[in-house]
Amino acid sequence: MYISISKASNILKSGGIVAIPTETVYGLAGNALDEIVIAKIFAAKERPFFDPLIVHIAEFEELENLVAEIPKNAKLLAEKFWPGPLTLVLPKKKIVPDLTTGGLQTVAVRMPKKQIAKDIIKQAGFPLAAPSANMFQHLSPTTAEHVMEQLGGKIDGIVDGGTCEVGIESTVIGFENEIPVIYRPGAITGEMIEDIGYKVRSIEAGHPSPGLLDKHYSPSTLLCLGLPDEVPHNSGLLAFGKLPANSERFAKILNLSESGDSTEAAANLYAALHKLDSFRLGRIFAMRLPETGLGNAINDRLSRAGK
Ligand code: TXA
Ligand code: MG
Repeated sequence: MYISISKASNILKSGGIVAIPTETVYGLAGNALDEIVIAKIFAAKERPFFDPLIVHIAEFEELENLVAEIPKNAKLLAEKFWPGPLTLVLPKKKIVPDLTTGGLQTVAVRMPKKQIAKDIIKQAGFPLAAPSANMFQHLSPTTAEHVMEQLGGKIDGIVDGGTCEVGIESTVIGFENEIPVIYRPGAITGEMIEDIGYKVRSIEAGHPSPGLLDKHYSPSTLLCLGLPDEVPHNSGLLAFGKLPANSERFAKILNLSESGDSTEAAANLYAALHKLDSFRLGRIFAMRLPETGLGNAINDRLSRAGK
């Protein structure tokens, strides 16, 4: 099941699907331009076809083959944040199958930073569609073992690249009259984009990022965002920073970052949820993070995980 980079590229070239590491989370990769391959990805994840995939490229020039138009601000943001955890939603060219984009006339593209991912894209020779390598609505994988648990046996291989450095998915951004609109908060924060002189808008509920379903990123154990007044028997705590006064009442505690660092918390988020999920707790309570740095993106995932 665990395979080398060159084996993965060969499998991809012959129409297979493999899990690959990126700096954010592991992705389930396949040829973004081949509908049969895309159908295999949806089937393995049991993901509904209306939820579009992100297309991964290794060179900026590849973007021009995929999109009909590159707004000036999209180009500037790509220059600043690529390779890295930023996904740009742009009008698609015909070459991108409707299946890849969930029937939308736009395509989401990102250039990952992790060298293994770049090598695999280059060796395959085509852009790779790669949704997070988990079953639909379940926890995203940040290690090869996480992928194995959920998809082992349903896919053609897993490239083990260790733990994902960032740990939370890319920021998905579209453009409305050149204004960047955040469809999904992620590793590149709104503040980071505003710091380089852009005004950004965040999207309200009901907007066209179909992946922003209410329920998402969920462990099997019931998860509640926020702390209870009375801690029920056999509860777990996903903590951040200083522990609450009633912390000794929790059966298990995992702290995302004792020092209260949201970047460290993002890197630990999914592994901590996978771990808490394995303890057969009655419930998990997650402390809400301050909305600075990656706090916003982490709260977004935690609130969906609890639906
Ligand atoms: O960090 C990441 O983005 C990871 C790694 C593997 O690259 N991938 C990832 O893919 O998180 P996925 O499929 O789990 O999430 C893709 C998100 C979904 O919320 C989807 O709805 C949104 O991107 N998306 C994709 N295409 C879109 C489009 N054309 N318009 C709006 N949203 C789109
Ligand atoms: Mg996902």
